[in-house]
Amino acid sequence: MSDIFQTAPDYGHFNGDFGGSANEYDLSKAGTSSVTTSQVCFQTPPTPAPRTTRNFLKYVTPSAAASKILIQLVLAKQRRYPYGSLTYCFLRQCVIDGTDASEGLLHSSSLSNQGTIQETVMTRLRDTLPAAMLFLVAATMMLVLANSKAQSKQEKRPFGKTQDGQPADLYILTNNAGFEVAITNYGGTVVSLKAPDRNGKMADVILGYDSVTGYENGKAYFGGTIGRYGNRIAHGKFVMNGATYTLAKNDGENHLHGGLIGFNKRVWNAKDVSSIAGQALELSYLSKDGEEGYPGNLSAKVVFTVLADSNALKIEYRATTDKETIVNLTNHAYFNLAGQGNGNILGHQLTLHAGKFTPVDAALIPTGELRSVRNTPLDFLKPLAIGPRIAQDNEQLIFGKGYDHNWVLDRTSAEALSRAAEAYDPQSGRVLKVSTTEPGIQFYSGNFLDGTIHGKDGKIYPHRSAFCLETQHFPDSPNHPNFPSTVLKPGQHYRSTTVYEFSTR
Ligand code: BGC
Repeated sequence: MSDIFQTAPDYGHFNGDFGGSANEYDLSKAGTSSVTTSQVCFQTPPTPAPRTTRNFLKYVTPSAAASKILIQLVLAKQRRYPYGSLTYCFLRQCVIDGTDASEGLLHSSSLSNQGTIQETVMTRLRDTLPAAMLFLVAATMMLVLANSKAQSKQEKRPFGKTQDGQPADLYILTNNAGFEVAITNYGGTVVSLKAPDRNGKMADVILGYDSVTGYENGKAYFGGTIGRYGNRIAHGKFVMNGATYTLAKNDGENHLHGGLIGFNKRVWNAKDVSSIAGQALELSYLSKDGEEGYPGNLSAKVVFTVLADSNALKIEYRATTDKETIVNLTNHAYFNLAGQGNGNILGHQLTLHAGKFTPVDAALIPTGELRSVRNTPLDFLKPLAIGPRIAQDNEQLIFGKGYDHNWVLDRTSAEALSRAAEAYDPQSGRVLKVSTTEPGIQFYSGNFLDGTIHGKDGKIYPHRSAFCLETQHFPDSPNHPNFPSTVLKPGQHYRSTTVYEFSTR
């Protein structure tokens, strides 16, 4: 199991005897030894059914007819106490017979935040320990809460004002290793990300601007939260339930990255939601019915977490609507693992865990085909440098002016985080691993950067001096019934999670 799964809690907290993730639980065999371990990282074979799973089932009360539950639990911390050891797990997602039940769970048992830890710890101890031990519960809770306080010293600085006078702030999230991510509530934008090289030297590895003004005037979507629909929609048109919707056209004839004023150009509300998982910032934005042509009031939330135990930034997207609409949220960070403004990325080695991509026409609109990458310069199944094939005489590379395509990820599960991409800079030794719940990833090799942008610390950003790995549903999905659907209906919960994890080699 990857390190990310060990350290990437999402929401909800559990206590139990093991650390695991993505546990397939076969109810038909419940009570015997019932957990299939194929996708699991149990330390020992769980016989009988693990306590955490049983606790969990108490909360979700699946119907008698339910045959399959997919539970994702992530190990957060293991602690030894005089009465035994406790493992704190985080619930990532619960899917019963293909239907997402996580939301119900969070509401019915208020397992959504810090209170949770108290509640579940109490539950377990009452079940399993003599009353005399209950005083230890208080100690445990205090420890956990003290821990969570320690994580919440999030720094906030002014980041300038928008042209119409709205103040924006910069939130600095860090972990104890010194990994640091700065995010502004203008556009839900990741402004900087500082990670160590193989000698421990820190560098800011993403492109951006020094203040809100740069982002307001900029056209490159640096680090922004992209919505309501990431990438292109052909002719800014789509049909849903027989009605035709017309969106703003901001890329020639087409709609790109949410339109003229996308989510990356809006001021979001900010809230510190730090926990033992790490320092975290929740941004929320209400996109009104009709904004840029989209139907329905869409209430969007993005939680950015700098994980306490690894150099990783987790981004969780959530949204609900009051009218049927389409949603496809992503982040548009431009990475240069040698440091922003420090040469081009052609020597970076890239791996994309994708055997297919969605070919495009000359306007970068998918044709609808899912094509194999075999024997094409789009094959990154094994790590290869970005540069050597980028100028090949290949129609797709000519249309993209380099790499600017959606890869179809080879996933083992439609719900769990899967490894999507890895990038490695041989010079600095920095490695970026991207995991996501999304079916696709746009690898864009910075083809439109041309040295005219003056970015942070006076740096200039030449051609291909950064790359983007935008996790997403496929471009123009509303016009391709064979692509995974991007429709969100009232009552449904849009969820998407991506983790960018940094290490060195
Ligand atoms: C698109 C590019 C576009 C760029 C804008 C990418 O996501 O795929 O075509 O030019 O965003 O910066």
